[in-house]
Amino acid sequence: MGVLSEHFTLVNGVTIPKLGFGTWQTPNDGASAAVQSALRAGYTHIDTARGYENEAGVGAGIRASGLPRDAVFVTTKVPAQMKSYDEAKAAIARSLAELQMASVDLLLIHAPKPWPEMPDGPHPYFEENVAVWRALEEAYAAGQARSIGVSNFQIADIENVTAHCTVAPMANQIRFHIGYTQPDLVAYCQAHNILVEAYSPIGTGRLLGNATIAQVGEKYGKSVAQVCIRYALEKGTLPLPKSVHDAYIAANTDIDFELTPADMATLDALTE
Ligand SMILES: NC(=O)c1ccc[n+]([C@@H]2O[C@H](COP(=O)([O-])OP(=O)(O)OC[C@H]3O[C@@H](n4cnc5c(N)ncnc54)[C@H](OP(=O)(O)O)[C@@H]3O)[C@@H](O)[C@H]2O)c1
Repeated sequence: MGVLSEHFTLVNGVTIPKLGFGTWQTPNDGASAAVQSALRAGYTHIDTARGYENEAGVGAGIRASGLPRDAVFVTTKVPAQMKSYDEAKAAIARSLAELQMASVDLLLIHAPKPWPEMPDGPHPYFEENVAVWRALEEAYAAGQARSIGVSNFQIADIENVTAHCTVAPMANQIRFHIGYTQPDLVAYCQAHNILVEAYSPIGTGRLLGNATIAQVGEKYGKSVAQVCIRYALEKGTLPLPKSVHDAYIAANTDIDFELTPADMATLDALTE
């Protein structure tokens, strides 16, 4: 069975396609075309966020594909700077309106702190994140989100939420790529039934010129991007590659190969 037809299962039993399609920096007026290209190529999982200002285009692309709503797994996020219950409630309603959807499949808190304070700002926003999380729990209970989680959360941020919640986070979407793998955080999540989603699996394009990754790829007849995406899968994470080019979008699904332990060790040894 190929990656495109494989799933991870979240702790609440919801299945999530193993490969997701990223849309950060895809402008709203190009998002519909990019999403339709991805759905034609066989992706069934699209990642967006209010912060990307393209939820309307993403929703339009899914409708234009002709696929039924329940054939596509859609993730969106409550903006990092919205740190009150009321703001989070309003953000969730606004995202659903932009997407023109009654529910999303995964709803995340985009980051534990507002972006200007990430990652090391002194105020941890612990109480604020508990309040925002309550809004996500209510969306989950109301059927507006089939699953809920976090993004860019470190272990202390997760433990703060789990200490105060009724529903624990089911996923953590974090930066994860060759040369930047946050092993302690990944191990913690995987030990606590929190699916790790690997964002920027190609390092936002920065890994494309890496000679070592290219050499590994040559052995398999695969590109740097394909090795990067495969690497994330081999680590048990869910990669979210982004592209706006039809050829790249399709190529990034052609990842049904296995990196040998020796090649994984070579890639593990790379640092940023
Ligand atoms: N939660 C968060 O805070 C967070 C943060 C960052 C990202 N994300 C999510 O993760 C997704 C992916 O991360 P990312 O956007 O940082 O970047 P990425 O997927 O690591 O890399 C995207 C870049 O690689 C290029 N590319 C993709 N496939 C290629 C191929 N086969 N050959 C050559 N070039 C290729 C793209 O080009 P073109 O676009 O020009 O085609 C783009 O410049 C985001 O879109 C977003 O959904 C989440």
